[in-house]
Amino acid sequence: MSHPIVIIGASHAGITCAEKLRQYGYAGEIVMMDSVQGMPYQRPPLSKTYLSADAEAEDGFYLRPQSWFDSQNITLMTGTKAASIDTDNSQIHISDGQTIQYQKLVLATGAVPRKLPDEMQQLDGVALLRTVDDARQIKRCLTDGLNGQIISSAVIVGGGYIGLEIAASLKKMQIEVHLVEMSDRVLARVASPPLSAYCQQLHQGHGVRLNIAEGLKAINAANGQVDSVSLTSGQIIEAQLVIVGIGVVPDTVLAEDAGLNVDNGILVSQEYVTSHPDIYAIGDVARAPEHAPVRVESVHHAQFSATIAAAHICEAQPGRVEAWWFWSDQYDVKFQLAGLLPSGENSLVHITRTGRKENSLSVWSFDDGRLVSVEAANDAQAYMVGKYCLEQQISPDMDSLADAGFDLKSLMKR
Ligand code: APR
Repeated sequence: MSHPIVIIGASHAGITCAEKLRQYGYAGEIVMMDSVQGMPYQRPPLSKTYLSADAEAEDGFYLRPQSWFDSQNITLMTGTKAASIDTDNSQIHISDGQTIQYQKLVLATGAVPRKLPDEMQQLDGVALLRTVDDARQIKRCLTDGLNGQIISSAVIVGGGYIGLEIAASLKKMQIEVHLVEMSDRVLARVASPPLSAYCQQLHQGHGVRLNIAEGLKAINAANGQVDSVSLTSGQIIEAQLVIVGIGVVPDTVLAEDAGLNVDNGILVSQEYVTSHPDIYAIGDVARAPEHAPVRVESVHHAQFSATIAAAHICEAQPGRVEAWWFWSDQYDVKFQLAGLLPSGENSLVHITRTGRKENSLSVWSFDDGRLVSVEAANDAQAYMVGKYCLEQQISPDMDSLADAGFDLKSLMKR
């Protein structure tokens, strides 16, 4: 009997891979493991609805219930940490001393949040948000207070999607929110300048105090517990809670120790095969230069890479390729984004359109006349048409697009 396919990491990528292996007809044993204890959670809601939802509703946030793993005949080992990979003997050593033999190994180890220096990060009242435990702790602090102190004011460090989504969730809970971003605009890494400007206005309109192009100088504490934050400008903000959302780094420790090629993520081929032919890497941890110039962190990349890897293992056809997509929810605004913005590119042309709904916007970005990304806020039609254009490699005429009377749907009738 052959050995199982082993998947390390039971989040969006790992679980999709197991699901696709079954869909593509693999009937052998599948073993999944994750160092986090308990049923795997969906990650996107943690910074959004989870923070304000009732505790009773927790199982609604599971990626899959235990019954799904049972019905698919997938062994799920949670609270189980893979300590090392022996590529010569196709074995994984688990930290409890067990050894598991594999025929194929899929690394879906994800990413870990970047931290502040220890002297700040370790204070009572400084939190990160990546796992459900992190979210649970923050939620407990917000509802019950911390060491008998009610949280009335919080500082969020980092104006990426995580920081902004947390800001919106906290405002919903009537907490005073200050956000500190060291770049000259929020979402600088991932969004166009017009979308950043829209987002800044949105948050200011909801009363978030934005501190842009500002650094964190110190987090001040009394008896080890946060009471204020000093910024590089000299400003001091009183707050009992600091939430850090300053990006993530790929969790490549196992891969590096096993001698796989790693460079800002585990380097993989078009089929998501690593530098070892029996080992795949998928999701946030994988960088696939043949698919994208950057390492893509998103649920879509998790699903896409998992599908490609499973199809390759099963020698099946993975189906149609979609444009990269992302989403975010902040207040009553749904952000839907398609395509990728080339990073550090100043020569892009951005065309901004107003949609039919109140407070709606879409930003169409062109690189040398070629459409590369569409970002929509409360404008599902612009997102749908833009994603279609990206997939069909249609680059709309920029002058027509800039005309408010232009019918976007006409782009789909070609
Ligand atoms: N002080 C202030 N801001 C900082 C600091 C700092 N010391 N360090 C980094 N930042 C800012 C960056 O300039 C950036 O705008 O934090 C922001 C972090 O944004 P991202 O790198 O996009 O990361 P984050 O928002 O944490 O999201 C992490 O989760 O939802 C996913 O798609 C998201 O994959 C991404 C991940």
